[in-house]
Amino acid sequence: MTLFRLDASIRVDGSHSREVADLVEAEWAATHPDDAVVRRHVGTEPVSAGAWAAAVGAAYTPEGERSIEQRSAVAQAAAEVDALVAADALLFAVPLYNFGVSQHFKTWADLVITDPRMAAGVTPAIAGKPAVLVTVRGGSYAAGTPREGWDHASGWMRRILADVWQLDLTVVEKEFTLVGVNPTLDQFRDLADELGRKAEQDARDHGRALAARRPQAA
Ligand SMILES: Cc1cc2nc3c(=O)[nH]c(=O)nc-3n(C[C@H](O)[C@H](O)[C@H](O)COP(=O)(O)O)c2cc1C
Repeated sequence: MTLFRLDASIRVDGSHSREVADLVEAEWAATHPDDAVVRRHVGTEPVSAGAWAAAVGAAYTPEGERSIEQRSAVAQAAAEVDALVAADALLFAVPLYNFGVSQHFKTWADLVITDPRMAAGVTPAIAGKPAVLVTVRGGSYAAGTPREGWDHASGWMRRILADVWQLDLTVVEKEFTLVGVNPTLDQFRDLADELGRKAEQDARDHGRALAARRPQAA
């Protein structure tokens, strides 16, 4: 068995998304102690900004006429998809940045979709695989809060992972990670603690479930 884990935080130390994803991974590893975890750190080792356009351009260019950049982008897209296809379970850890999806996660996902195995109109090569998305936010976007509706990342990520890629997806969310960092959020300390504990419990529960699940036929 292999777990594929992608991290999109731009930091390593103090990263909440990594911490929560570590709990998911620990539960998976407890069931699969001798099995491999393949890691992709797109936040710190990003896909280059030009790769997606080059891969898209390659699709409209006869193979023999492709530029070096196009060939390289096509090969990179294939390698990214190979890693997903080879995995039995998938774990994504992605923070909210500027009210939207992490650019590094989006760039990576866009490149993945250029591969013919993941293109529109075909059943994705990873359809039915069990997956957990861990997503964290500095503030809160819960119903009734002033910024309800401002989180434009979670909906897009669910759309891609669950609907487009047809993964068997569960989501762990942690909000108010900037409490203790941003003084204007000090009034939310108790709530942040409670949400943090819930996220940790959800991570353990979903991690155990991830370890137990087997890929479903799409
Ligand atoms: C450049 C930048 C932009 C951010 N934008 C938002 C935002 O729009 N909304 C929000 O709730 N938190 C925002 N945050 C806070 C992060 O979501 C939060 O710090 C999160 O914990 C980061 O993930 P990490 O802890 O795994 O590094 C932003 C953080 C950074 C560094």
